[in-house]
Amino acid sequence: MYDDPEIFDRKFEHIKIVVDKDVDYRIGNWFNFVHLIHMSLPELDIDDIDTSILFLGRKFSYPILIDSMTGGTEKAYKINGALGELAAKYNIPVSCGSQKAGLLDKELIYTYKVLRDVCPECFLIANIGGMDIVSDPVNIAQEVVSMIEADAIAIHLNPLQEAVQHESKPKYASVLNSIQKICDSLDVPVIAKETGAGISMGVAKALESVGVSAINISGSGGTSWSAVEVYRNLLRSDRLMAEVGKTFWNWGIPTAASLIEVVSSVNIPVIASGGIRTGIEIVKSLVLGASLTGIAAPFLRAYYKNELDFYMEKLINEVKVAMFLVGAADVESLRKVDYVITGDLLEWCRQRGLCNEQL
Ligand SMILES: Cc1cc2nc3c(=O)[nH]c(=O)nc-3n(C[C@H](O)[C@H](O)[C@H](O)COP(=O)(O)O)c2cc1C
Repeated sequence: MYDDPEIFDRKFEHIKIVVDKDVDYRIGNWFNFVHLIHMSLPELDIDDIDTSILFLGRKFSYPILIDSMTGGTEKAYKINGALGELAAKYNIPVSCGSQKAGLLDKELIYTYKVLRDVCPECFLIANIGGMDIVSDPVNIAQEVVSMIEADAIAIHLNPLQEAVQHESKPKYASVLNSIQKICDSLDVPVIAKETGAGISMGVAKALESVGVSAINISGSGGTSWSAVEVYRNLLRSDRLMAEVGKTFWNWGIPTAASLIEVVSSVNIPVIASGGIRTGIEIVKSLVLGASLTGIAAPFLRAYYKNELDFYMEKLINEVKVAMFLVGAADVESLRKVDYVITGDLLEWCRQRGLCNEQL
């Protein structure tokens, strides 16, 4: 079905580069331009704060998704096992890495399926690339869902990464149409997902119109896939594409801007992700209208430091403190919290016609 002999090296290199190198965007996620108004009279006890959310018909204890990362290698099997256990312990959803290698080689399915094995009750999201579905959309989507008994499928859009990758020839000609076929046929929700360059209001509307159930914006501000491919291109002595990758290191729509664009243009749940690192950024995302927030690279780095539980506890505590300091007893109350937008983000909103009564 595929002609991609390098896929196995690629999966391993992605993990190694993200853990060893600083591949974050240098422009930030723009949540620094979002200011929540501090509340000196919260009129609630911190222990009474309810962080639970509803997303696609399921209740989760925290508004945190362990976002798509890996699969396809023995190392990925161990990482996915640990991430699945974390999801089970904290009752949060977890997304698989791209299952392309599992489609190519059935012997690798265990490296993805471990997520379901360690977490039978989890809300588990399958994952496949937009470019990888076009040859046979419905059958490929059904196969990746059944491969891990998933509750939903994320189709990732990564034109930036494909365009700067040494071995890739990006073909995005009929991705939207393929997503539509999948939405029409599958009996699990379809989530459209970027991988770090953000989704605009126009793309969000197009995705909603073909029937996706949710959008994961994955904006710019965290892991830069152009940066990751710079290092992979250097490993292959491809100086030309390494230089092109450097030029596009900061390309994309900053996460806070993408979130405002998408929330204001569609009526389906929106996942905020891309450089979300703290509980304050999680709470800011929820205030701006996200239903859930996704985090990827920090979980990988925490895994390597043997600190997954610590990182999760840090996020939970920060979310509770931030909710307390804006006087929100539950996530629904966050929608009414006052905020101010300044600087580049305010200018972005003005030029894109996104100023609501609060801006
Ligand atoms: C090591 C690694 C591998 C990833 N692999 C995938 C993938 O297979 N499919 C996908 O949709 N996104 C993938 N992503 C992208 C993340 O899901 C996320 O959209 C992006 O990294 C931004 O989030 P972050 O800044 O929290 O890392 C990967 C991210 C990392 C760090």
